[in-house]
Amino acid sequence: MNKTFEQDIKKGLSSSPKYIPSQYFYDETGDQLFQQIMKLEEYYLPRIELEIIGSCSHEIFQALAFDAIDIIELGAGDGSKTLKLLKNLKSKGLNFRYIPLDISSNVLEINQSAIQNHLPDVDILPIAGDYMKTFSELSRQKNPKLVMFLGSNLGNFTPDKALGFIKHLYQHMNGSDALLMGIDLKKNPQMIAAAYNDSQQITRMFNLNLLGRINRELGADFKLNRFDHYPFYDPIKGSAFSYLVSLETQKVKLADGTCFYFEKNELIHTEVSYKYSLKEIEKMGMKAGFLKVRHFTDPQEYFTLSLFQNE
Ligand code: TRP
Repeated sequence: MNKTFEQDIKKGLSSSPKYIPSQYFYDETGDQLFQQIMKLEEYYLPRIELEIIGSCSHEIFQALAFDAIDIIELGAGDGSKTLKLLKNLKSKGLNFRYIPLDISSNVLEINQSAIQNHLPDVDILPIAGDYMKTFSELSRQKNPKLVMFLGSNLGNFTPDKALGFIKHLYQHMNGSDALLMGIDLKKNPQMIAAAYNDSQQITRMFNLNLLGRINRELGADFKLNRFDHYPFYDPIKGSAFSYLVSLETQKVKLADGTCFYFEKNELIHTEVSYKYSLKEIEKMGMKAGFLKVRHFTDPQEYFTLSLFQNE
């Protein structure tokens, strides 16, 4: 892990333009900061997604073709959102096995105990590792399934990759399987800009923590106050970019002697979160091969849970 971290950081910081892969946000400090982000008023995403789960579980239950299924969740995380959906589906009489997939075995342990606590009768089969690989393997079993990709994770792919991802899922699903994705929608750009630039500056710390992590793990000498957090939302493309900006011309050294040079105002790209319209989501679904797309949204249409099916 540390070796790949080192290689990825060296590659990203010697590229032009510079970048840091977004998977590295989530070390212990990053996890804590992200938990705080999720509670911010301005970061509306998790709150609204949960609200929609509360209002659409019955319709999701009715849309499912079988009453005994596998629920496979890609990038499941701690399961806190999913719990509500699973509880609702269970109370409607759905029989299911819950299969959470995540890269982090740590987070899967938290997930399993949270779900098991509230739903002692449900079989849980957590699988740690690359969720796309695991999913391809699981898809050989022909059990009917509901595949879930929540939390607006799709937004962190470029639109091309997002389509490729949905196509891949489609190709590994059977005719009566369903795909449920939580996707953030295009809306007043001010609201999106604020979600990635909160007034308490937690998002700023979260972004700067990438440099802190490089200091801690690779013995670098980044001075965090010489960098700024710069989020930029383009409402036409629907892309919320996050950058770090070097506030001066400077040199940064790793413990092994490797040096990186930053121009004044040079950018480091750290993340992108794409936002879609309901129409764009339908088009993506159709292009991937699905015949039906249904949206469950909040009344303001800030966020959607979109259900992709074939029959
Ligand atoms: N990837 C998540 C998102 O796009 C997490 C996130 C929230 C994030 N705020 C951020 C990532 C700021 C980078 C910078 O919503």
